[in-house]
Amino acid sequence: MKVSIIGTGYVGLVSGTCLAEIGHDVVCVDLDQSKVDAINQAKAPIYEEGLDELLQKNVGCRLRATTDLDEAILSTEATLIAVGTPFDGNEIDLSYIEEAAAQIGRALKEKPDWHMVTVKSTVVPGTTEDVVLPILERESGRKAGRDFGVGMNPEFLREGDAISDFMSPDRIVLGGIERASRDSLKELYAPFSRADILETDPRTAEMIKYTANSLLATMISFSNEIANLCSEVGNIDVVDVMKGVHLDKRLTPILETGERIVPAFTSYLEAGCGFGGSCFPKDVKALAAYGKSHGSPMRMLESVVEINRDQPLKMIAMLKNRFPDLRGMRVALLGIAFKPGSDDIRESPALVILESLLKAGAEVQLHDPVVDSISGLPFLEHAMEVVSDLSKAISGADAVLITTRWQSYAQLPEILQELDDPPHVIDGRRMLEKTSVSNYSAIGLASDWRQMIDEELCSVE
Ligand code: UGA
Repeated sequence: MKVSIIGTGYVGLVSGTCLAEIGHDVVCVDLDQSKVDAINQAKAPIYEEGLDELLQKNVGCRLRATTDLDEAILSTEATLIAVGTPFDGNEIDLSYIEEAAAQIGRALKEKPDWHMVTVKSTVVPGTTEDVVLPILERESGRKAGRDFGVGMNPEFLREGDAISDFMSPDRIVLGGIERASRDSLKELYAPFSRADILETDPRTAEMIKYTANSLLATMISFSNEIANLCSEVGNIDVVDVMKGVHLDKRLTPILETGERIVPAFTSYLEAGCGFGGSCFPKDVKALAAYGKSHGSPMRMLESVVEINRDQPLKMIAMLKNRFPDLRGMRVALLGIAFKPGSDDIRESPALVILESLLKAGAEVQLHDPVVDSISGLPFLEHAMEVVSDLSKAISGADAVLITTRWQSYAQLPEILQELDDPPHVIDGRRMLEKTSVSNYSAIGLASDWRQMIDEELCSVE
């Protein structure tokens, strides 16, 4: 199929590149000339594992980028809208979606053939049918369902794994206003013959996306709330508690061989210093606000947001418990990206912790294997350097805070063993064995845990 994609952000570019890889002719459209130029030179304007390689394979044959939206619509049969939907605190901002729909509508006025328009951006239920469709009809002077198709096709891509998530989908949700729209979407995804395809209406497709992310965020805040209780009452380590919970065969089914399947889902049932990124925080808040505006307050999701807002600050509370005055203290903050495998710092719990440390007068050394500096944050006057050498980051530190689950932090016990006066470690991701370093505090563990420990207990054979 000939496909145009409006917006070359994360979702648009990954989807466009992968659609080209599976054999479609793809045109990516963006207002930003520098992004268009980069894509046409097969260079990804964002960091995503494997994306550059796929661009190099497809640019020049099945993939190109342009700033000319009209030309892109006229030369293709289907268009995906993948522009941003920022959340302003009350609702998601649909202005980019509305602008894209208006431009597509005006282009469709000049196009006699049937055309398929699909929303791929994350939008609250009703947006495709009640906002996008009327704009398309108004601007084109044509009738949806008769002259053009309308659909909603949410994405389920994890940053860092986006290419493999797209190329090996667990599900494809196709929301169409009628049969022809759903059939057109099915044709787009026809190469994924083994994936589970759910055909539905746009409203349900929109709700599926929010519900999926809200469920995962709820699992995280649930685990964090249990962790906070464990550290409060003492004598219970949340890691042991979660081990016991994960052994439920409904979470980790037992094969006939006796082995357990450990679904990736269980990784959202681990305690830590909170979730971040461009999706969970925004989507949970947006769904909660949507529920409220429809007379159905989402009390549980509001708590999910609240727990997550406070969770990074548990790290500061633990630090202050050990060092009441943080002025002049040297703190190494390990992990700035919101999760391992990504250089994205949006809504990263580390930033909340950093702001609090700086306000308290601590001297902070940042470490991350892929982020090299941070700037432009409201609480930062100047850009801050982020080092990638772990030993350098912790050298001279009074305390080390682990905020992202980067694999390289597993070496910390070894590195710390070499030091005469090792720093206090506060583990915000429960990565280290608690007895592997001499001064250890962690989320979900009472401050006096050492007096209570019985190492023979709670090991799972
Ligand atoms: C998430 C979803 O997992 C994708 O399915 C979805 O398509 C995507 O949002 C989206 O809406 O675009 P992503 O934001 O890339 O993907 O990140 P995840 O890997 O799901 O992690 C999200 C956050 O949860 C990270 O900050 C991570 O550190 C945190 N997390 C994860 C925890 O705090 N605890 C856990 O146990 C697991």
